Formats: sequence, structure tokens, C-alpha cells
Amino acid sequence: MSQATAKTESTKPYIIASTSPSRYPRGWFCIGADYEFTDQPMMLNYFGTSLVAYRGEDSKKVHVLDAYCPHMGANLADGCVKGDSVICPFHEWSWGADGFCNDIPYAKKIPEKARIRSWDCMEANELVYLWHDPDGGPPIEEQKIPDIEQASEDGWTPWYIRRVPVENNCRELIDNMADKAHFGPVHGSSNIVHFSNISEGHVYTQLMNADSAMGFMESNATYYGPGFMLHHATNSGNAENPPRRYMSLVMNVPTSMDSFEFLAGFKERIPVGMEGSIEAQMEYMKTIAEGAEERGVFADMRIWQNKVTINNPILCDGDGPVTKLRQWYDQFLVPIDQVPESLKERKVYDKS
Ligand code: FES
Ligand SMILES: [Fe+2]
Repeated sequence: MSQATAKTESTKPYIIASTSPSRYPRGWFCIGADYEFTDQPMMLNYFGTSLVAYRGEDSKKVHVLDAYCPHMGANLADGCVKGDSVICPFHEWSWGADGFCNDIPYAKKIPEKARIRSWDCMEANELVYLWHDPDGGPPIEEQKIPDIEQASEDGWTPWYIRRVPVENNCRELIDNMADKAHFGPVHGSSNIVHFSNISEGHVYTQLMNADSAMGFMESNATYYGPGFMLHHATNSGNAENPPRRYMSLVMNVPTSMDSFEFLAGFKERIPVGMEGSIEAQMEYMKTIAEGAEERGVFADMRIWQNKVTINNPILCDGDGPVTKLRQWYDQFLVPIDQVPESLKERKVYDKS
């Protein structure tokens, strides 16, 4: 294909502007599948600190607290759960789900200052979510993660979750939503007959129909805030592959300003013959996740690991609405009273 070029002698090498966000995004972040959170404390290293997550024995709810015990600094994730409290392994101070110390086995009086941060959590779609606002605000009611219809249908396997550390700011992963031109080189898609993005408030959707190695694919990927993306797709099948319907998660939880945990999830229709065995289903899901290594959701990681943040990308007419997507994402990087009203409106960007 011959293309018009702007080549002139006076064109200077382009200077990439590269600054990462100066704060963490605000919103709900998916931190794993519900079955992963038990009465065994789990250590999470997110948002530049260490957290402990556990399921209360009484309430059966997931609780997340700051992990460092303010008595003498032990990590509560090394402790144990009693009722809805977590017991520090060092001197057995007991910390309630509200973050208040509620027992010191050897003290007459609990010091007034004995309180740690308790983080808001929620469960939906067989997943657990953590709220984070750098300004300390409570969860925003309209940003609560909805129960997504297809995730609650019968006949799906459990979520299979894989976590991978990535050394880059979490915003790098978000660009994917608008990046129409990477689906061929990175994921092997071809003949993209439809590609559009829809922005509305804190929700952002990518619709794509294209040829894939498993036949014609119809795909819908939606972010609910900055840290939970559910992808739902069907493949028509071809000579080598049967028709397929599946869901995946492509998510991030910041671990520091320069790193994030890439959290991928997979859910498939239960194959015939595996209905009675969760073990067989999870084994099958493991093979599905491994199959995503070369061309699937893990293919981007090779790019993310070594890429630079670019604030001023040179975009061409065949690119997706990268700038619009970034404007949408910026709402999570500013205090709530600075979010532009215009972002509430539904906007459709059709780049088919
Ligand atoms: S460090 Fe936690 S009880 Fe002492
Ligand atoms: Fe991608």
C-alpha cells in the first residue's frame, strides 16, 4: 500500500514525553476469586503497602486490613483468624474487621490509639473487590460492581485466576481497550469488521468483531472503573475448533507507582462429562490459561515489560480512540470533585 508521507528535511526526531501518573487511581479493584479468600490470612502487597485479607468465621465476609501491626510491626498475614478478627503472630493482639484492637491477652487496658486501617471490600460475580481512594473517600454508590448476568448463569466453570507482576505503571494496561491496531500483531486477529468504544461515566466498553484462529469472534470487553474488566466473547468455530463461548478478566491492581499485578481470569462453559468434578474443570481451565500465553491475554506482557509511558503518542488515522480512552481513565486520577461532568454522557467512538 502506498501512503502519503509528511517526510521533509526539517522534520526532527520526535521527543517522547513520558510522565507516569502521580497518584493511584480511585475505584474498585478486583483482587481474586471468592474461593481464594478463606479463614487463612492472605498477604496482599498493593498500593505501596502490605495488606491482610481473610474471610471472617462468623460473618463469612471478606475483610481487608493494613497488615503491619502497630504494636511492634509484625505482619498480620502471618497470624490467624478467630471469629471475624485477625490475631497478630507476634504478641497476639486481636484486630477486628473494623480495624480496632479488641483484645490484648496480657493487658488490662487497650491503648486508645490501637486502630489500623480497614479497607472496603465487596463480592459480586464470584469475585472479590477492594475499594481504593487516595483521598480516603468511601465507595461511590453508582460505581458498585454490578452482578453481571452471564457470570451468574448456570453451567460455567469456576474462575481460574493467574497473577503476574509487571514492572510498569498500571495505566499501560488500560490503553489496550482503544488500541485497535495491536490486535493483529499481538493477538493474531485479522479482518476487524467492527471496532468501537463506548464511554459512559465510570464504565468503558470495547466492542470488536473479527476473524481469529478459532473462527469469527464477537467480543465485548467492559471496564467498571479502573480495576475490573470483564470480557465476554463467542467464537463461531472452524474446521479445527468447535464453537466456543467464554469470559475472561484482564485486570490490574497497582503494587507501587511503577508496578502492578496483572490479574487474569478465565471462565468457560463446563465441558460435557466434567459437570460433577470441580478438579477436572480447574485442570481444564489451567490448559485454557496456558493457551492464552502466546496470542491471548498474556501476549501483551512482553510489550508492557519493556515499553515506556508515552503521553504524546503519534497516532494515525487507523488507530483506535486512544486519546478518548485516556480522558476517560483520567477521571480516576483526580479528586472526585474534579471529574468533568461531560464524562457522564454516553459517547460512542466507532473506528470500524
Ligand atoms: S507486633 Fe503485633 S502484637 Fe505485637
Ligand atoms: Fe491486548
